[in-house]
Amino acid sequence: MSYIPAELIKKKKLGGCHSREELNWLISAFTRGEFTDYQMAAWAMAVWFNGLTDDETTALTNSMLHSGSRFDFSFLNAPRVDKHSTGGVGDKTSLLVGPLLAAAKIYTPMISGRGLGHTGGTLDKLESIPGFRVNLSRKEFQSHVTHHYFAVMGQTADICPADKKLYSLRDVTSTVDSLPLICASIMSKKLAEDLTGLVLDVKFGSGAFMRSIADARKLARTLKAIGEKSGVRVAALLTNMNEPLGRFAGNAAEVLECYEILQGKTFAVGGRDLYAPTRDLSLELSAHALLLSGRVNDLVHARNQIRELLASGAALRAFENLLEHQGPSDISRLPTAKFSKELTATRSGFVSAMQTEAIGLALIELGAGRKTTADHIDPTAGIEMFVRTGDAVSAGAPLCRFFANSAAEFVTVEQLLARALEIGETPPKQIPLVAEVLADSP
Ligand code: URA
Repeated sequence: MSYIPAELIKKKKLGGCHSREELNWLISAFTRGEFTDYQMAAWAMAVWFNGLTDDETTALTNSMLHSGSRFDFSFLNAPRVDKHSTGGVGDKTSLLVGPLLAAAKIYTPMISGRGLGHTGGTLDKLESIPGFRVNLSRKEFQSHVTHHYFAVMGQTADICPADKKLYSLRDVTSTVDSLPLICASIMSKKLAEDLTGLVLDVKFGSGAFMRSIADARKLARTLKAIGEKSGVRVAALLTNMNEPLGRFAGNAAEVLECYEILQGKTFAVGGRDLYAPTRDLSLELSAHALLLSGRVNDLVHARNQIRELLASGAALRAFENLLEHQGPSDISRLPTAKFSKELTATRSGFVSAMQTEAIGLALIELGAGRKTTADHIDPTAGIEMFVRTGDAVSAGAPLCRFFANSAAEFVTVEQLLARALEIGETPPKQIPLVAEVLADSP
């Protein structure tokens, strides 16, 4: 059966409901290039406005999963657990969770994405390390996971090809923040990994695709239901993305932050460790992953074991192993920016809020993300945060520093950041980093 593309777009534009056959055809025609990019962009926008039912979302996920082939790790006879985030700014925890789980000898086959909308992507971060290869063949990925527990790759022409194409199209057509499109994108990749467990980091707040915790909860429940229907144990943590996570946002700088955390380093400013949010969230996500593996019986033991793997240097060795087998890559040659500028407070008060999406857009202006699918990333571009929401600041005090290999957009970036970092009379209510956990339902 074949369909007329414009008729399918019209159906969703008018709020109609697609059959499973229609979605299968749409995704396979898109993968073959017969449903064109401009038609897909129009359809994705229609979905953005009119949504998909739960049945349509599940059918779309399955069509996207079956647009390519799936890994089969059943021969390992052992748990396979991954974590995936719905996207944030400075959201770098995969670079720590993967090594922590590898150190725990938990198989972690990780299919990741590039930057999406105003958020960063694991593949772009890892590619800032000279020599690092994310374009692994199916065979290489399978072999790396089998022998080293942890490997990272992107979608390919063989694995999740529909997500590969749709992901980069959504990135530049303002169709990222759609609950069903996020669900299908994430779960098609995760189901292709042949997992037994999945930890979801579902972000809410000014830098997340879901602004309210209620929307994040709805997204988490839908993601979880799709995973569980396929026999995967899923836990979802609803986490605070009202400010960038940790010290840095930007590809090479985020890698540096993670590498230093793995080395046991802290970065203290005014008696507070700016690496703490990145470290704490990564440890918590990893502990939940370890619990899902079934290797420990409770979260307290899982947390203790994961903390020990960081403290002992075992996770650092797992990261260095990843750099070797997906390279050889040389982290000592992590590129650094030629230009940098500080933003200072124009008045005294408290950091009352951060418009974190605007911080992500400032990163794109700096070159850390893409405006069109053909754009090249400047791996050195980034922002270093000196303050966190709630901090008291005096007029003239540094708030953040931004940097890149070109200063061409510095005026625009400075204006964006000055508006994004709000200073008020009183400190805001503090929101915990992990606000809620939807535990798996065995
Ligand atoms: N991560 C993904 O892989 N896809 C999305 O749509 C959002 C976050």
